[in-house]
Amino acid sequence: MNVIVNADQNWAIGNEGKLLFPLSQDLKRFKALTTGKIVVMGRKTLQSLPDGKPLPNRINIILSRKKDFRAKGTVIFTSPIGFVRAVRNGFFKPYIGNDFFVIGGGQIYRQFLPFCNTVYVTRVESASPAADTFFPNLDENPDWQIIEVSDKMIESEWTFRFVTYRRIKNTTKVNLFT
Ligand SMILES: NC(=O)c1ccc[n+]([C@@H]2O[C@H](COP(=O)([O-])OP(=O)(O)OC[C@H]3O[C@@H](n4cnc5c(N)ncnc54)[C@H](OP(=O)(O)O)[C@@H]3O)[C@@H](O)[C@H]2O)c1
Repeated sequence: MNVIVNADQNWAIGNEGKLLFPLSQDLKRFKALTTGKIVVMGRKTLQSLPDGKPLPNRINIILSRKKDFRAKGTVIFTSPIGFVRAVRNGFFKPYIGNDFFVIGGGQIYRQFLPFCNTVYVTRVESASPAADTFFPNLDENPDWQIIEVSDKMIESEWTFRFVTYRRIKNTTKVNLFT
């Protein structure tokens, strides 16, 4: 299972329900990596998407503890363990580990990271003046190593790189697919 996230130099990812960096190259990469795959997100991230609608051409999994929450075109789970059980019971066959992308937000990233092997980060080289949502700092976590870094890109006032982290240790890993 993968994670895809856009973070500033302090691993900030959002403020007041919004993304911090509207980067078109980031959105293009997000679309290329996730189209045709299964995306997993929290109810708040769903509601932050344009018109609160699920992403087209993807299976949209939503986590919400509200038992009566419904959103057209999504599959809803009321707990991560419910989702894990569904994967293990073959609910998403023939999808495999690489076909799942955790796409946010902060609460969902934290809870699903132990199930993930690869994290695709768009790393912006600046500190957001205001942020209330953060991703775990992978640079301080010995379970993760950078395996790929793109050239520097510039858009509007932001400089950023695509950085890929791979899990190299299993101290917190929970294997979903065996
Ligand atoms: N930079 C990025 O790449 C990126 C990507 C996505 C989002 N974001 C940003 O992240 C922020 C939103 O993140 P967030 O942490 O506030 O919210 P979130 O993770 O998107 O959603 C939180 C919601 O998920 C549900 N949830 C959480 N844990 C659950 C569990 N164990 N079982 C069942 N449901 C659970 C709850 O929904 P209910 O309240 O319905 O129970 C909870 O309120 C926004 O600013 C957004 O723009 C950034």
